[in-house]
Amino acid sequence: MGATGIVGSEILKILEERRFPVKALRAFASERSVGKSVSFAGRSVAVEVADPEAIRDHDVVFLSAGATLSRELRASFEGSRARVYDNTSAFRLEPSVPLVVPEVNGQELTADCRYASVPNCTTILLTLALHPLHQAFGLRRVVVSTYQAISGAGAQALEDLLQDTRAHLEGADVAPSSLAFNLIPRIGPTLEKPGGGWQTGEEDKVVAEARRILGVADLPLAVTCVRVPVLRAHSESVMVEMEARPSLEEVRSVLRGAPGVELRDDLEGGIYPTPRQASGIDGIHVGRLRFEPEPSALSFFLSGDQLRKGAALNAIQMAEQQRQGGGVA
Ligand SMILES: NC(=O)c1ccc[n+]([C@@H]2O[C@H](COP(=O)([O-])OP(=O)(O)OC[C@H]3O[C@@H](n4cnc5c(N)ncnc54)[C@H](OP(=O)(O)O)[C@@H]3O)[C@@H](O)[C@H]2O)c1
Repeated sequence: MGATGIVGSEILKILEERRFPVKALRAFASERSVGKSVSFAGRSVAVEVADPEAIRDHDVVFLSAGATLSRELRASFEGSRARVYDNTSAFRLEPSVPLVVPEVNGQELTADCRYASVPNCTTILLTLALHPLHQAFGLRRVVVSTYQAISGAGAQALEDLLQDTRAHLEGADVAPSSLAFNLIPRIGPTLEKPGGGWQTGEEDKVVAEARRILGVADLPLAVTCVRVPVLRAHSESVMVEMEARPSLEEVRSVLRGAPGVELRDDLEGGIYPTPRQASGIDGIHVGRLRFEPEPSALSFFLSGDQLRKGAALNAIQMAEQQRQGGGVA
């Protein structure tokens, strides 16, 4: 569902890449896509208009067509054999729906689960780094600033940025609100912050979802989400205060052994995470590791492909895990 979108396309690509055992595949989208087709395993698959009855009649369903549609479709899955992996925010905070990053809390995706949520892309990438640090050293407080690629806002937003960028380079007037050669510190709706001031929907999601996935309901977590004119792969600047006071080498050793994490930490040698280098990878790159003057405050930078690990790949790993009857995919 959402097969013509930027996440849907990535799902099709990764199903093929990982040889997910597909006997038959159907692709759904909106009426706008009538007459279009998507390609899968060398075949052209005609796109169908979303129809709850047709969608529920499958073994595995990937939903990536927005939260409104997921909410509308949810009831139609009741009593069906489908296992549903929902990439939207619709049910991520509902206690009965597991919210899973397989490398972090894969055990919460039990064999009998029929409907599970894929976390927000920024949250997935963040928890891959925070989880091993929490296990080893105990997190006390986390501060994050993000650098989020435009493809995180969907296919149309990506096209708009490319057009505005070309127009700007050709000397045309581009609205000051455009992302071309700009940064936008607002992603999602504005929400009143209980402590005073305002935050964005994206910031709210990252805080609530990270706490849920890490299993630390009261973790102090301050997040600022910024859209940047990068085409693909999100980055995050992270500072953590920890209970223990490990050495930098101990931190490196923990992150080196963490699933989904690749250390790229040699500033002098020119090795650090960048979104260009993280595009297409399956986990996250982590680097720029350093301690602030307070020895237990660790700073680092990470980049990861939000379309793969931040969405499509994570959903497929969840499906693989259930197919294999448990364990981390
Ligand atoms: N982009 C990311 O990095 C990312 C990461 C994690 C999660 N997500 C989530 O994944 C979902 C899809 O995001 P995206 O970036 O792939 O967006 P997108 O490129 O705009 O694609 C949206 C898809 O949903 C379909 N759709 C929209 N409204 C529909 C409706 N009323 N009925 C049926 N189909 C409908 C579209 O079909 P048409 O082509 O026919 O319009 C298209 O296939 C969103 O919930 C988003 O929050 C995105």
